[in-house]
Amino acid sequence: MDMHFLLPTISTSFIVISAVLVGVGWVLIVRGKKEAHQSMMVAGAVAALLFFIIYMSRTIFVGNTAWGGDPEMEIFYRIFLIFHIILATAAAVFGISTLVLGFKKKFATHRRWGRFTSMIWFSSALTGVIVYVLLYLLYPGGHTRPVWEAILGV
Ligand code: HEM
Repeated sequence: MDMHFLLPTISTSFIVISAVLVGVGWVLIVRGKKEAHQSMMVAGAVAALLFFIIYMSRTIFVGNTAWGGDPEMEIFYRIFLIFHIILATAAAVFGISTLVLGFKKKFATHRRWGRFTSMIWFSSALTGVIVYVLLYLLYPGGHTRPVWEAILGV
């Protein structure tokens, strides 16, 4: 299989796995299973980290894929992509903070942040899957270019 398709498919799978693990981790804490919640959330963070490592390696060594569909739709795609990038960055920052709050046993704050973090995490995963579907399934054929060109077109 082509590397330009295989690597994004693997990294997107890790986003989906990570969101599922966070969802299961939430259900576990609602049921009072604290240790299982902790392990599940750490596994979710590891899956997100694996996504990030694969994504960054691809960005550095191969490049990013540009929009391959109708040029008139490109501006909407770019706005959506930037929205997704903002969500994913927020998910990483809130994710690390929520983990730290958990390990420091600041559970009242952790609980509030945890709900918000999980919602951002899910939104980031969903928008990430939509970007994948647009770039590789619905409108394949976009060229692989250096990162800034693929995101901003400059
Ligand atoms: C990114 C990672 C994490 C996320 C997104 C997360 C998310 C959450 C959420 C959403 C809740 C509240 C559940 C609810 O009441 O609806 C919660 C509670 C809790 N979490 Fe986490 N969690 C994470 C990591 C951890 C870790 C690493 C620990 C332990 C070291 C931990 C320990 C707890 C405990 C003990 C509670 C219950 C707090 C209470 O009873 O007030 N969590 N977490």
